[in-house]
Amino acid sequence: MRKILVTGASGHLGLNLALLASGQGYKVTGWSHSKGLKNTPFESETVDLTDLSALPGHLTALEPELIIHCAAIANIDIAEKQPELTHRMNAEVPGVMARLAKNMGAKMIHISTDAVFDGTKGNYKEDDPVNPLNAYALSKLHGEHAVAEANPDVAIARVVFYGWTMNGNRSLAEFFYNNLSAGKTVNGFTDMLFNPMYVRDLAQTLLEMAEANLTGMWHTFGNDTLSKYDFGVAMARVFGLDEGLIKPVLAGELMRDAQRSIKLSTNSDKLAAALGHQLPGLMGGLAALKRDFDQGWREQLAAYQA
Ligand SMILES: NC(=O)c1ccc[n+]([C@@H]2O[C@H](COP(=O)([O-])OP(=O)(O)OC[C@H]3O[C@@H](n4cnc5c(N)ncnc54)[C@H](OP(=O)(O)O)[C@@H]3O)[C@@H](O)[C@H]2O)c1
Repeated sequence: MRKILVTGASGHLGLNLALLASGQGYKVTGWSHSKGLKNTPFESETVDLTDLSALPGHLTALEPELIIHCAAIANIDIAEKQPELTHRMNAEVPGVMARLAKNMGAKMIHISTDAVFDGTKGNYKEDDPVNPLNAYALSKLHGEHAVAEANPDVAIARVVFYGWTMNGNRSLAEFFYNNLSAGKTVNGFTDMLFNPMYVRDLAQTLLEMAEANLTGMWHTFGNDTLSKYDFGVAMARVFGLDEGLIKPVLAGELMRDAQRSIKLSTNSDKLAAALGHQLPGLMGGLAALKRDFDQGWREQLAAYQA
């Protein structure tokens, strides 16, 4: 399975994934939308996925063996303000992609989110009841349903991740790094739990899932549960930044437009068993985040923006 289409290739996950896969010898095409890419080691094209009538033509021109569908409206506040566009992009498009993948005999991994859960229970497994709390989470849940209905052979990976991005201010790691390195005080949510994975570890895990021919629902989360405050503190320590600038606060008191799930601790034991190893944890991920930073990864990513 060497010919891969990565959608959302200008985004946080998509760009890191397309670069990792092309570095491992896969023949990668990356689709972006509003942001052009230049000088990438993979082929890049701009495609508006919401133009559903044009999608079959774009896909048959490529004939990918594997599609990793990372494109989405992934900003919770934008999703709240533009629910129709978000529904089209996050719910309808994945269903159409899954149907077209089936017709072409291509494998597909669809990227979903821990936000399908309401965060009241914690330690969520794949078959736990979902209860999305905002427009983004609801659209992603509808996307899962559309994909599973159109093509049960698709692997759906629920994820949450951190890392470096092309525009330098998209991710939680960048939020902490940019503010702390500028000496600015930030809030760290002590009640918001998650199981984050370093984005390049996630990219590697997704490629392993593809090679293992997994189908159906998979929790693809980091091995460690922690609060967003603790994440900031751990990152500050690894990067030698002032952790005292992180103010411990309760998220419940500071919600913005969209309601967010709080206790999103998750369980990825099923995937660990299927792959035959534990999923990447926090300290290894932060060490890789720092190593990549030291090796100029941020600057490399920024240089791909056309
Ligand atoms: N970030 C997280 O921690 C997190 C957590 C849980 C789940 N997820 C899921 O992980 C996936 C990747 O998220 P991300 O953080 O990498 O997102 P991101 O950085 O916001 O990137 C989104 C990508 O989608 C593309 N896109 C948006 N509208 C499009 C359209 N109409 N046609 C084609 N492409 C379009 C964007 O292209 P342009 O920018 O070029 O327009 C961009 O490449 C998403 O499915 C998201 O829901 C993310």
